[in-house]
Amino acid sequence: PKPNIDPNAMLMKSYACQRRTPLKHHNSFLTDALEILAQNAEYNDNEGRSVAFRRAASVLKALPHRVKSMEDLRSLPCLGDHSQRVIKEILEDGSSREVESTRQSEQYQAIKALTGIFGVGVRTADRWFREGLRSPDDLIHTGQQLNRAQQAGVQYYDDLQKPVTKAEADVISDIVEKAVHAVLPGAEIQLMGGFRRGKEVGHDVDFLITHPEEGKEEGLMPKITNWLEEQGLLLYQKTTRNSYLEKMDGPARAPNNMDRFERCFSIFKLQASAESCTSNSTASVQDVSTGSETERHSDQHSEASDWRAVRVDLVVSPYSQFAFATLGWTGSKLFERELRRWAGQEKHMSLSSHALYDSKQNLYLRAKTEEEIFAYLGLEFIPPSERNA
Ligand code: GTP
Ligand code: MN
Ligand code: MN
Repeated sequence: PKPNIDPNAMLMKSYACQRRTPLKHHNSFLTDALEILAQNAEYNDNEGRSVAFRRAASVLKALPHRVKSMEDLRSLPCLGDHSQRVIKEILEDGSSREVESTRQSEQYQAIKALTGIFGVGVRTADRWFREGLRSPDDLIHTGQQLNRAQQAGVQYYDDLQKPVTKAEADVISDIVEKAVHAVLPGAEIQLMGGFRRGKEVGHDVDFLITHPEEGKEEGLMPKITNWLEEQGLLLYQKTTRNSYLEKMDGPARAPNNMDRFERCFSIFKLQASAESCTSNSTASVQDVSTGSETERHSDQHSEASDWRAVRVDLVVSPYSQFAFATLGWTGSKLFERELRRWAGQEKHMSLSSHALYDSKQNLYLRAKTEEEIFAYLGLEFIPPSERNA
């Protein structure tokens, strides 16, 4: 007689960084719902609850089939009572009352709309919500004090709402490459974030830049942004200097997602190519139905314009930290979070986008490739296209 082996328990590991999560999966009807609850928990400053829902959603993304009954969930990790209740209701009734009422709630919609503006985080959005503001338009009408990033966010709001395509990301890659090589020949540029994981669209384009000769990368960002600015390619940029010191930022520092590389949050002015012009005109046909929306943002450039605004993140890393930076900037956010949790809880190590510190041996582990970092962590290597946790 065959032993009673539960395939779920066998196959589904409990940390997202132990699993392969493809971009396209079979359970969006459940994961979208759980992620709304995760998002809402984040808006209410409940991080623990938010991560619990995200972990539950992520397990369903890794399943090789569509969930048809609660039986399919037997012995899967990370599915708490609350997530199971939501899933059960969707399987039985087609939707969950809690999810639908969250989706419809004034607070959820307002915080989502306000944090959708570049430069606006949950704290600011929540303060504005409590002051009675509900949408980007309300900001303009009530004459809110905006910082420089938020001003750009409002000014280019319509463009920045439109997803960035892979084709546009490739055009921007060429521009960034040209800029970087103009100011530092021999520098290396790598496309990061969602596009490295194989996404077809993104909310921005992320790049990591380094130079094989350690030290050459110092002070590189202002040179890049100056070059781009001279070419009229930048609508907005804010550069932050590198502030990483191994002694201070190593094991003693509180775990935090933010790293200390020289980095630049920017908005590029992307000229429409012949190709993307065609797709642009399709977009403007759709926009006619929301014509009033376009009118209200009167400082937005006209629909007929031959360029669009695109969010771009640039990060410069010293060569010796490049593998860690690559791993840290590929995402997904949950995958990163799970990697750090695995390192700390299972290996007594501390992982950041700069380094891996082994607390048992009291030393930094050097790595030239992502593969080496996975090996130090005792994890099977997961390629970027399967880090869509
Ligand atoms: P879309 O841009 O929406 O397509 O998704 P994305 O996965 O590219 O997200 P995003 O551009 O926000 O971030 C890309 C990766 O960079 C993610 O893995 C983030 O965790 C990481 N990231 C973003 N900001 C920081 C930061 O300040 N420090 C570090 N270390 N990582 C960051
Ligand atoms: Mn991105
Ligand atoms: Mn980004």
